[in-house]
Amino acid sequence: MNYRHAYHAGNFADVVKHAVLSRLVEYLKQKDKAFRVIDTHAGIGRYDLASMEAGKTGEWQGGIGRLFEAALEPRTAALLEPYLEAVRLENSDGGLRRYPGSPLMVRYLLRKQDRLTAIELHHEDAARLKAVFAGDFQTRVIELDGWLALGAHLPPKEKRGLVLVDPPFEEDGEFERLVENLRRAHRRWPGGIYALWYPIKDRKAVAAFRAALKATGIPKLLDIAFEIRPASSDPSLDGSGLVVVNPPFTLEAELRVMLPALHRALAVEQPSRWTVEWLAGE
Ligand SMILES: C[S@@+](CC[C@H](N)C(=O)[O-])C[C@H]1O[C@@H](n2cnc3c(N)ncnc32)[C@H](O)[C@@H]1O
Repeated sequence: MNYRHAYHAGNFADVVKHAVLSRLVEYLKQKDKAFRVIDTHAGIGRYDLASMEAGKTGEWQGGIGRLFEAALEPRTAALLEPYLEAVRLENSDGGLRRYPGSPLMVRYLLRKQDRLTAIELHHEDAARLKAVFAGDFQTRVIELDGWLALGAHLPPKEKRGLVLVDPPFEEDGEFERLVENLRRAHRRWPGGIYALWYPIKDRKAVAAFRAALKATGIPKLLDIAFEIRPASSDPSLDGSGLVVVNPPFTLEAELRVMLPALHRALAVEQPSRWTVEWLAGE
């Protein structure tokens, strides 16, 4: 458990992940009925962009820093508004000094009937996350192994909602773990929306992951890949992906508007690309 998200918060991968997440939450809000978001690898919730960790990598400057400065055409601006508004609310004193991680970003978007379960295994990070949500009766923070939570907490009693699975990918076998746990979770709750994050570093591993997902037989798998540079010879994060299970029917069209604009704002070297592909249909 060496991975600390504070070094990476607000980078290009966070921007894409959180922008898509915001569209999933906005879709769930179209019906009055309450829903629950379960974040299995939640992090600490609030990130100080002036911290030593953020300063050491400077990654946020190539992510939310760039997007904040970008001129967006109206359709893209409208789709990104819920996400950008959450970032603005974190920075109500102006500027860009703090970044909301996934649980806090989601929390900004919830209505009073909706709930959030945020799970974090690292003891100190879980304590920080609990402090962020202290006194918030809509949010439950649990110090627990997120993979276990995928069994124990599904389906949620609301029977509507979304599960974000965003592991650190610091151990071997994380792609396989993701597929196996999706299989298990989907058996328990086939109707849930799932968003699975993955790194694009090792292209062979990504190809094997996609093949393994297809082989599960789980229907309705939409794969979003976002690359900011061509494949580099030394392993570095050249891109990131998100597989959405049971995506809202509106999502693909929204992505085709949003992703080109995000790519223009965040890509660092060409050729690089974004793609949206169905790994499995109905
Ligand atoms: C990529 S970060 C999460 C970032 C967060 N989802 C966001 O978007 O703001 C991964 C987190 O998972 C935590 N973690 C690692 N192994 C875990 C496990 N088995 N269960 C739950 N959390 C875990 C790490 O401590 C780290 O905070």
